[in-house]
Amino acid sequence: MNYDIKDISLAHKGALRAEWAEREMPVLRTIKERFAKDQPLKGLKLAGCLHITAETANLAHTLVAGGADLTLCASNPLSTQDDIAAHLVESGIPIYAIRGEDEKTYYDHMSATVDTGPHITMDDGADVVAMLHSEKQHLLEGVIGGMEETTTGVIRLKALHAEGKLAYPIVAVNDSQTKHMFDNRYGTGQSSLDGIIRATNMLITGKSVVTIGYGWCGKGFSMRAKGMGAHTIVCEVDPVRALEAVMDGHQVMSMNEAAKIGDIFLTVTGGMKAIDKHHFENMKDGAVVANSGHFNVEINIESLEEMSETKRSVREFVEEYTLEDGRKIFLLAEGRLINLAAAEGHPASVMDMSFANQALAGEFIVDNHAKLGPGVYTLPPEVDTEIATIKLGAIGMSFDTLTDEQDRYLNSWEMGT
Ligand code: ADE
Repeated sequence: MNYDIKDISLAHKGALRAEWAEREMPVLRTIKERFAKDQPLKGLKLAGCLHITAETANLAHTLVAGGADLTLCASNPLSTQDDIAAHLVESGIPIYAIRGEDEKTYYDHMSATVDTGPHITMDDGADVVAMLHSEKQHLLEGVIGGMEETTTGVIRLKALHAEGKLAYPIVAVNDSQTKHMFDNRYGTGQSSLDGIIRATNMLITGKSVVTIGYGWCGKGFSMRAKGMGAHTIVCEVDPVRALEAVMDGHQVMSMNEAAKIGDIFLTVTGGMKAIDKHHFENMKDGAVVANSGHFNVEINIESLEEMSETKRSVREFVEEYTLEDGRKIFLLAEGRLINLAAAEGHPASVMDMSFANQALAGEFIVDNHAKLGPGVYTLPPEVDTEIATIKLGAIGMSFDTLTDEQDRYLNSWEMGT
């Protein structure tokens, strides 16, 4: 059928974008084909709180192919892609998410999703788990397990478990190697730069780009900024990571010092107030600040508001704050995830592996929940091997295997000659 992209419905656009993403998701496609035959999730209600993107649409189709009765809501008010939401609704998947929804609507949507009474929860940031363990404890009895996508969510789950309150087993998908080594590093690296560039159209080369936090996301972002010609500066609280940043070729300094010289700042700490009032006080006129951490608390926006005489939107996703002395500071995407608000999130090729882990974690919960107590679990290493093997095959790369003799040598304690 011939048509112009301008003339098609929102849902049709979403379907095409999901199809485009699926081309780069061979591992998930392989799992979807098997799930369609094996039906590992048959008869199970699944409540998912994820960023509603083209990549998530492909995960949703995989879970539904596996027999799941899936309901979705958004894990951030600014990350929903409305065409994808429309496409999912048209495919028969109930979804509660509208791009730019206010805080009340965001939580009402989550509440409606949790009220479906899920057997399995799927979170990106642990909000569904937090809601189930606070205001909706009456629904906990029906839950057999869950999955968590992100570093921040895993930290929250571990805190809940440390207090002895976590009620069911949850797989920390983030802890799979085929998740964090690729999604957090290359996904956040590329998509955060993409978001900053789309929002500002600024030239990166020659700029002083400050990365605050040198976990996997910070490593990826500073590596990519360096690759584009930036003078990269890293701020870290962990001395080992700070040393790693030095050896990776970045300049390392305290945020107090970096505040004075940075042109572009990105927070990826998972914590709060990584950019605070005293940093704004020292920033150059025209400094750009953005966040790629899960929650919008890494930049102290409240203090920026208090310090500013005026505030205005100067471009989509760019808020100009004018301080008393006339300096201007530009905040991107209200301090929310810049890669999902101003760009499209991580590219499909890395979400392929993250969401392959999600789908396999769902199956793992079904198979193992009876013997797992409440706790935070990691998928067995064989799952990483399987995902990496399928991915390498799909992109046409071969890898070696040990001969029996080499294998014996590597597994023996006797002295070599
Ligand atoms: N988190 C980061 N990027 C994402 C994407 N493209 N889809 C879903 N969740 C994401």
